[in-house]
Amino acid sequence: MRKLEARRRRATGELSVNCCPGRKDSGEQNRRMGRRIALWAAVPALAAGIVSAQQYGLGRSAGTDEIAAWDITIGPQGKGLPHGAGAAREGAQVYEVRCKECHGEAGAGGDQVGFVGKPEQLVGEKTVRNVGSFWPYATTLFDYTRRAMPFDRPGTLTDDQIYAVTAYILYLNGIVGEDETMDAETLPQVKMPNRGGFIRDPRRKP
Ligand code: HEC
Repeated sequence: MRKLEARRRRATGELSVNCCPGRKDSGEQNRRMGRRIALWAAVPALAAGIVSAQQYGLGRSAGTDEIAAWDITIGPQGKGLPHGAGAAREGAQVYEVRCKECHGEAGAGGDQVGFVGKPEQLVGEKTVRNVGSFWPYATTLFDYTRRAMPFDRPGTLTDDQIYAVTAYILYLNGIVGEDETMDAETLPQVKMPNRGGFIRDPRRKP
């Protein structure tokens, strides 16, 4: 039997390494090993393919203008506020056309939250948490409106309109006067009623 097998191998040119004593068909074993080696060899080849795909022709770095278009965060001290200005008087018109349908007459709330409140309303059975009662920084109002409002058409207001409607919401809360102009200088100086209502989380390192 063995002789016959050896002859067959010689005839077919099949390599015979007796890797596993007792195992008769070491030719089959070799073939399997070969397949396995081929498979493992394919793994680095695949990885190399992914690397070269990243290097060549797929995706691109974002340009400075594109990053700037997304990088619109405004800090509490006003860092990032754009040029432009507006007061409550103009803001009332912006509000009428662009905000009232959802936020109600004079910021009283409608389908959506209202804007008028006082910190005292944060205490008690029925609390009210809104711009007037809760928000510690006026700059957030500009940031939020610019990035997200009007809810159905964000990004459609000019910076002047956003300053104006911000001024109007502050005016409704009795925080600024009707003709007080809000801009990159004045808005960060506005002191919101609940500014002192926040404490630092003691678990966080300074
Ligand atoms: C089509 C409806 C709609 C319109 C129009 C709209 N808003 Fe809103 N607004 C929303 C909704 C909905 C939310 C709540 C969003 C959320 O919680 O994610 C919201 C939330 C807000 C908040 C956050 C309030 C809070 O206390 O959390 C502000 C500020 C705001 N809107 C300002 C404005 C201003 C200013 C305008 C007009 C320029 C405007 N919105 C127009 C639907 C609208």
